[in-house]
Amino acid sequence: MVTEEGIRQRGFIEQAKSYISDLEKELGRKPTCCVTTFGCQMNARDSEKICGILSDVGYEIIESEDADFVIFNTCTVRDNANLRVYGRLGELKSKKKKNPQMKIALCGCMMQEPSVIEKLKKSYRFIDLIFGTHNIFKFSELLCSMFENEGNMIIDVWKDTNEIVEDLPVVRKYPYKSGVNIMFGCNNFCTYCIVPYVRGRERSRTPEDIIEEIERLASEGVVEVMLLGQNVNSYGKNLENPISFAELLRRVEKIDGIKRIRFMTSHPKDLSDELIEVMKESKKICRHLHLPLQSGSTAILKAMNRNYTKEKYLDLALKIRKEIPDISITTDIIVGFPGETDFDIDETIDVIKKVKFDNAFTFIYSIRTGTPAAKMEQVPEEIVKKNFDRVLKTVQDTARSQVGKDTGKTVTVLVEEVNEHDSSLMTGRMSNNTLVHFPGDIDLIGQFAEVKLEQCNGFYYFGSQMN
Ligand code: SAH
Ligand code: SF4
Ligand code: F3S
Repeated sequence: MVTEEGIRQRGFIEQAKSYISDLEKELGRKPTCCVTTFGCQMNARDSEKICGILSDVGYEIIESEDADFVIFNTCTVRDNANLRVYGRLGELKSKKKKNPQMKIALCGCMMQEPSVIEKLKKSYRFIDLIFGTHNIFKFSELLCSMFENEGNMIIDVWKDTNEIVEDLPVVRKYPYKSGVNIMFGCNNFCTYCIVPYVRGRERSRTPEDIIEEIERLASEGVVEVMLLGQNVNSYGKNLENPISFAELLRRVEKIDGIKRIRFMTSHPKDLSDELIEVMKESKKICRHLHLPLQSGSTAILKAMNRNYTKEKYLDLALKIRKEIPDISITTDIIVGFPGETDFDIDETIDVIKKVKFDNAFTFIYSIRTGTPAAKMEQVPEEIVKKNFDRVLKTVQDTARSQVGKDTGKTVTVLVEEVNEHDSSLMTGRMSNNTLVHFPGDIDLIGQFAEVKLEQCNGFYYFGSQMN
């Protein structure tokens, strides 16, 4: 949908083009820029939007931070995400010392925290531009301000917004697959989580806008879409014409050219039977469900404000396994939430063993200032460490036997890239999200291939191509 704001921002893109072309003349080459993304798929998608503008205004996008303009799109979900950003900023400072013309911008979730902005204002004066999660669509306007106010730190962070502006240029990282935002923000306020504070209230895009975007992606050669939201199961409930997530999936299924549909993340509290039905009948929805557990203990789940019990989670996961036997179920688990006892850990381990997760991201609880759990009594570090190791070991054991059960089968994979460690191998992704490495040609990238799964190495396979 064309928006008034979109048209306004295109005006700033034109203006920014003249600044970049002046810079190009001065440098005698195209100015370069690098966008480094921290955090989740939402941030990755936001970075594609930022790259879209940068490339439109005339920057050459490169992977190295030895660039004329470096942007960090930050995450603040756990403290170590923040620490990494501060560490990397130190490195940028010395780069900028050598190249004073260099520009540095920060954006993303961390910027939504007032304490972070205070710290940056005080100790990181070399940063040129800071903006938040709600005004990314204003990036071209901010870019112009940056060039018009050389030497000043520009800060523009909004508390919240109702605006959805999606009609701006985007540069996709992969030609054959793309994330698609279906909703923004989160209303769930899990007591440990900072996301609702930094991403604002839940807002769904209309199904018409989403379908239009996916049709356009399909016409550009995209075969796989990942529908993105913090809790896709509550998609559409607050739209003027409410629609369920399952119904949205039915409509996406009908789009020609799209061969695979994925989505993230599904909150267990409102995963409907309708969704299971749609997944079961679908030819395109991938056989993978990411269903964050967080804890297997009903008491801890209550303290986390997750709105389900251990039994409800188990019933749901086992029902899904029964209805869709070839599905893989992955999860997120937090160890060390305030008040967690040995009994609570036993409960989590019990759920892992019963559901047999295909993969689980296990996190040590991290205190986020301003969230309710930050004020609760914390578990001592050495106990958390010990519990973390127990949980991790269980996850690794179940995942190994679960993932390995397809050994010997021939499956369809979407070939994604050259293997990171061995360039004679290609890496493809099965419908159930498991990766397969196999000898193959680089021309296969973006294509579907039939691959025999020969050897399982824990979370992935080695195989050979059959077609
Ligand atoms: N919306 C998704 C999760 C988004 S955050 C959902 O509700 O499932 C991704 C993961 O980070 C969460 O699932 C959780 O496991 C983890 N996480 C969030 N806050 C955390 C914290 N304070 N400490 C440790 N892990 C956290
Ligand atoms: Fe955070 Fe909970 Fe919202 Fe997920 S559902 S983003 S864990 S508050
Ligand atoms: Fe991090 Fe923000 Fe995503 S806090 S996990 S980048 S929504």
